[in-house]
Amino acid sequence: MNAVTPPSPNAPVAAVIGGTRGLGRQLAVQARDAGLDTYVYGRSVHTMAPADARGFVLRELDLSDPASVDAADVDLPGPLHLFWVAGAFLKKPLVHTTDAEIEGLTSLLLTGPLRLLRRILATAPASVHLVTIASSSGWRRRENESLYCALKAAQAHVSRSLVPELVAADPANRVTVINPGGLAVPDFHTGLEIDYGTMMDPAEVAGIIWRAAAEQSAPFQELQILRSREPGAEGTPIVSHGPRVPEPPL
Ligand SMILES: NC(=O)c1ccc[n+]([C@@H]2O[C@H](COP(=O)([O-])OP(=O)(O)OC[C@H]3O[C@@H](n4cnc5c(N)ncnc54)[C@H](OP(=O)(O)O)[C@@H]3O)[C@@H](O)[C@H]2O)c1
Repeated sequence: MNAVTPPSPNAPVAAVIGGTRGLGRQLAVQARDAGLDTYVYGRSVHTMAPADARGFVLRELDLSDPASVDAADVDLPGPLHLFWVAGAFLKKPLVHTTDAEIEGLTSLLLTGPLRLLRRILATAPASVHLVTIASSSGWRRRENESLYCALKAAQAHVSRSLVPELVAADPANRVTVINPGGLAVPDFHTGLEIDYGTMMDPAEVAGIIWRAAAEQSAPFQELQILRSREPGAEGTPIVSHGPRVPEPPL
């Protein structure tokens, strides 16, 4: 149910794991609008409004279900820009967190993507540029978010750790780790009282990510995209390079 013409060999393509909503959708829209064949993965691909799905190749995927991950269509041409974006938030003291929440978030943010990445990398016909959307929560001091923070830190470090083996497999392979701060994505922070006027615009952040990825020549780069808290400039993205040392917990 897509209107995309078959990709031509050797034309760059984009695949967005978690491209149906939020930041992932903006990354997919900007890829499509730039003329790239764009593959969108998510649970809700077949319930997207036709206007929202226009121009995408839609691929159903539930990262929390190993059978879905193993059955997902990973036939992707290349060179491939592969965005690892899918996620969900959890703000809860650990003692109130259920087994199902621990298992569900871990499979969504870490083990499901690793199973999927293993399949994509094993069959990729050309070079892969992995762009990982981690989070400033991987190094910021946070309260009642220990599981989420741990998994975002793990996502970033898995991506850094993959660089040697990816470059050994193909010197053209690349990895980018992005650590965004708060985005104006109400779906993500369901149930929380948040002033979205002080958060970053996901379309603007997607543009920054695409430019950084397109200009990258080194095998690896890491970016922080944090929001300004200056009065009058709240929510303006501030970009800096390199990893951050974790903040002290107290
Ligand atoms: N929002 C923020 O303030 C913020 C800040 C820093 C980092 N981040 C990170 O940015 C990423 C995107 O967040 P967002 O704010 O754009 O969130 P969002 O609007 O809630 O989008 C989440 C995306 O993940 C997909 N997804 C969720 N569960 C899935 C599952 N089980 N299997 C496959 N796909 C699944 C969703 O697709 P379906 O529902 O179709 O499955 C959707 O496309 C996340 O990794 C998040 O940790 C967000």
